[in-house]
Order: sequence, then C-alpha cells, then structure tokens
Amino acid sequence: MSGIGIHDLSVATGHHVLDLALMAEHLGIDPAKYHVGIGQDEMSIPAPDEDVVTMAAAAALPILERHGTDGIRTVLFATESGIDQSKSAGLFVHQLLELPSACRVLELKQACYSATAGIQLATGLVQRHPEERVLVIASDVARYALGSSGEPTQGAGAVAMLIGADPAILEVESVTGVHATDVDDFWRPNDHDTALVDGRLSITAYLTSLRGAWDDFRAHGGVGLEDIDHVCYHQPFSKMAVKAHAQLGRHAGTPTSAEDLEIPARYNRRIGNSYSASLYLALAALLDSDQDLAGRRIGFFSYGSGSVGEFFTARVAAGYRSSLRPGSVPAALDARAPLDFAAYRDLHVAAAPGSSTDRATESVTNGPFRFAGVRGAVRRYEPTR
Ligand code: HMG
Repeated sequence: MSGIGIHDLSVATGHHVLDLALMAEHLGIDPAKYHVGIGQDEMSIPAPDEDVVTMAAAAALPILERHGTDGIRTVLFATESGIDQSKSAGLFVHQLLELPSACRVLELKQACYSATAGIQLATGLVQRHPEERVLVIASDVARYALGSSGEPTQGAGAVAMLIGADPAILEVESVTGVHATDVDDFWRPNDHDTALVDGRLSITAYLTSLRGAWDDFRAHGGVGLEDIDHVCYHQPFSKMAVKAHAQLGRHAGTPTSAEDLEIPARYNRRIGNSYSASLYLALAALLDSDQDLAGRRIGFFSYGSGSVGEFFTARVAAGYRSSLRPGSVPAALDARAPLDFAAYRDLHVAAAPGSSTDRATESVTNGPFRFAGVRGAVRRYEPTR
C-alpha cells in the first residue's frame, strides 16, 4: 500500500444563486464591501426541494458511477445543518444511492470541522482494512438571520470524497495538528434554524485555533511552512483565508502572499459559506486549476466554531488530473437559476416550515435527487430521473 487518501472527489451545489451586488443594492451597502472587504461575489441558495441530503447524494453520484460501490462499508456524513436530531442524513443518501446494506452510516457534527474528522477516521479504517473504501460527504446549507452581519456569508454546497488506499488524487500524510477550546463564537441551538454568531470573536477564535493547530502540527514532527507548496483554508468568506495565511506566515516566520489564495477561493467566492464542505471546495478549485500539482504538498486548515481546528498535509498523486472532472464545477455554477433579492428573501423565510404537517414540495431542482416533502412527519426523497 503506497498511502491512504482521496481517491475521488466530486462537488454539488444549490439550484439558485444570488448575486451579492443585488444584496448590496437593496441594503444600501457599497458592493466593494462584499467583493473586496469579505471577498465574496455570489451565494448558492437551495431550491425548496433541495437540502443537505439531495446535495450530498448529487455530489456522491458521479463517484459511484465511476467506481461502483465495491468496498464501501462506511459512509460518514459531515454537516452542521442536519435534517434530523436522531437519524443520520447519511441514511437517506445511502438509500438514494443504493449502497450495500453491509455498511456503517453515521453523521458527524462539529460546525465546519467535521468532514476533516471524517477523513481522519476514514484513513484509520482503511489502514486496518486496505481493501475497504469510505465515502465521506460534507454537505451544508449556511443560514443566518435576515439583516444580520452573517447574511452575505450564507451559501450551500456539498463535496463527496472516496477515501481509500493507493489514492489517485491525494495521499494524506500522517502528521496532524489539533486544537480545541470552548468558545461562543458561532452556534445554533436546537430550536434555531439560523446560526447565532459573534462575528468579531469568530475571526479571532479562528486565528487562535490556526496558531494552536499549527504549533501542535510542528510539535508532532510536521514540516515547516517553507516545505508546503499550497495551503487550503476553511473559507467562511474568502478574505478569512487571506487573514489566516498572513497570520500563519508571521507565526511560522515564513513570508506568505495573498496571491496564493486566489485560486483556492474561486469556487468559494461563488458558492458562499458551505460550512463543512468549504475547505474541500478550496481543494477542488486548486486541483481544477491549470497548475501542475503532481508531487506537491498541500496544507489544510480546517476550522469549526465552538471550536476545533486541525492542520494537516497531503501529497498530490502523479496522474491526478485523469481523476478530475474538468469544467464540471464552473458549468454547475453557471447553470444555477438567478434569484432577485425579493425572491431570495421569500425563500429564506419559507425554508423551515417544520415537520408536523404533511406537505409536498414544488418540483424545482435540476439535480438527480429531490426532497419530495413530509408525510407522517418523515422526510421523503426521490430520484428526479
Ligand atoms: P461586518 O461587521 O458586516 O463587516 O461583518 P466589517 O465592517 O467588519 O467589514 C468586513 C470587511 O470589509 C472589513 O475588512 C472592512 O474593512 C471591509 P477587514 O478589516 O476585516 O479586513 N470593508 C470594505 N472593503 C472595501 N470597500 C468597502 C468596505 N467596507 C468595509 N466599501 C463579519 C463581517 C465577518 C463579522 C460577518 O460577515 C459575519 O458575522 N460573518 C459570519 C461569521 C463568520 O463568517 N466568521 C468567520 C470565522 S468563524 C468560521 O469560519 C466558522 C463558520 O464557518 C461556522 C462553522 O464553523 O460552522 C462561520
């Protein structure tokens, strides 16, 4: 076995898009605050018949079409915006994708961090059973209250990753640095359908976690920043990665440049915050770029408010390009249906009707699966084709 890591990776997002220039116009804000100040251009908005399950299944489908289901005995569903307090969203995906019944399926939660935990848990499972593959899916809808500081940093997206031995895309290295502390920077009580956030505190908590995770990474034998070719960050908004990269450079004593972050921000700038998926959208954008990354080392900083941070590295496999899907993400982003500001706000208000009343959802999504509605307090999903 030459290593364990990401064998395949695929992205999905919501049906709609809101141009942040429209939000700026309606809220009387200089659009440069969004485009330059926070580094965001658009945000994806799910249709009424989409949610974290439909996006996750849409992201995972191309992986299964390419590799089949052989060896997949574990599905780890990472999300902050789960749809049930008890049942894993992964079980709905498991059924939609017709995965084998000989499978462990669970949901992982720690704000935006949990997909990274999923990857680390998956590498451990594959280490013990190299013939097995683990499907790790990060899927989230980021929702803040209307009129709050977080409103322009909403978004929606999913990244599915197949973790296995002899990976075709990226070999995850074993040294990792972790940091945990109890901080009230961002949270969502069980009775809230939008996140609560202390924006300023969340930025300092992110940077504190970055320094802590980096120090732990170095203390455990991690390479110096000068030996890392690119760094991908969790991007609640793309300017956060710029702040983080500058901070890491100062902390590690190695100069960094904001330009390094332009390529990994390409998808995040158009999708918005996708919580658990955001870091891996940065990876997708970097892999899809023109640069030849074969043999390069990528650093990853994963942050989940509350808070847990992790810094780890991975090496890009030779021949990784043949496992990508060139142009598929930009095409999906260009195909989204634009919303005007009033329609976006109407959708936001209508998005959490509860589960006590039976209802059927309107058919809107162009994706391969849809949320059909609620019957008998149970969420129903179906393929669209
Ligand atoms: P705000 O208070 O509306 O904005 O919210 P601001 O006044 O701080 O301005 C933002 C930036 O725009 C500033 O730049 C301004 O100078 C600049 P900075 O000083 O930060 O470099 N600016 C302009 N630039 C150009 N032209 C202009 C202009 N005007 C202002 N005309 C805040 C900002 C981030 C607080 C808000 O968006 C928010 O609350 N977001 C949600 C929380 C968040 O994303 N936190 C990030 C860290 S926590 C995290 O990453 C975890 C998370 O993803 C959740 C999870 O783990 O699940 C959130």
